[in-house]
Amino acid sequence: MSELYAVIGDPIEHSLSPAMHHFWYETYNMDHHYHAFRVKPDNLKDAVRGMKAIGVKGFNITIPHKINIIPLLDSVDDEAQMLGAVNTVVNRGGKLYGYNTDGLGFLLSLKEEVPEILEQNPKVLIIGAGGAARAVGLTLAKHVKLQQLDITNRTMEKARQLSEECTDLTNTRVLSLQEAKDTLPDYDLIINGTSVGLAPHIDQMPMDITPSERKQVFADLIYRPLKTKWLREAEAQGHIILNGLPMLIYQGALAYKHWFGKLPDAKIMQSFLERKMED
Ligand code: ATR
Repeated sequence: MSELYAVIGDPIEHSLSPAMHHFWYETYNMDHHYHAFRVKPDNLKDAVRGMKAIGVKGFNITIPHKINIIPLLDSVDDEAQMLGAVNTVVNRGGKLYGYNTDGLGFLLSLKEEVPEILEQNPKVLIIGAGGAARAVGLTLAKHVKLQQLDITNRTMEKARQLSEECTDLTNTRVLSLQEAKDTLPDYDLIINGTSVGLAPHIDQMPMDITPSERKQVFADLIYRPLKTKWLREAEAQGHIILNGLPMLIYQGALAYKHWFGKLPDAKIMQSFLERKMED
């Protein structure tokens, strides 16, 4: 039977989620539909009631609703509760269950793309302390045995808050941008969780890359452009790079799993979305 799935946010017109989920529906011969709805903050409550009323089976939530949707749901799982944000909802018999697959999507992208990094108790630096950086930081702190999780950000106070939230989970410190730059070669994994480098500001990067003797992993949560200046410079210095597209795909794959019970093929999605983004 054909079912309706959705994503709600504002803005929403550039979302890749409809294309991604339709590609999986076609691959697995499912007759479902996934639609992007622009919902303004004042209309969130009505939109969620509408989802229930028309029997939408599941939906994703994106900016700016991930936090404000929580009181509108019947139940929220541990991961979403830790993050204080929901990006996936399942409608089970008229009751709405909230989940968060953002941080776990990043973790799965590491497991699939650079598995060796997780096997060595890595020393990790996160640059940024906004919503995306926070989801990734807390998820790594909770699920990976880290030697160290350092956080730096333009606004130090926000880095301090995130680090404090991680203290019960892992060994964490706050660094100034200058301190982080000076000690950059010490880290196994360095993640740009800021919006610096996002199109159209493609000539910027969150900090200069201090040359290092050994190979490190440089990750970016940005996928537009696919290769930020940060990743281009890291690659030019011989490092391993990971862009934000696998995180986007795996957060979608984990949402799909909440709705249909199993993980879809994420590998086939990569080249499809890369082609789609060129259009
Ligand atoms: P997102 O949901 O993408 O994480 P966000 O919550 O607005 O977006 O967070 C954006 C992050 O990028 C923050 O860490 C922000 O730093 P501040 O906390 O100091 O605002 C960072 N950021 C955005 N523009 C920046 C810039 N021009 N230079 C440095 N950091 C920047």
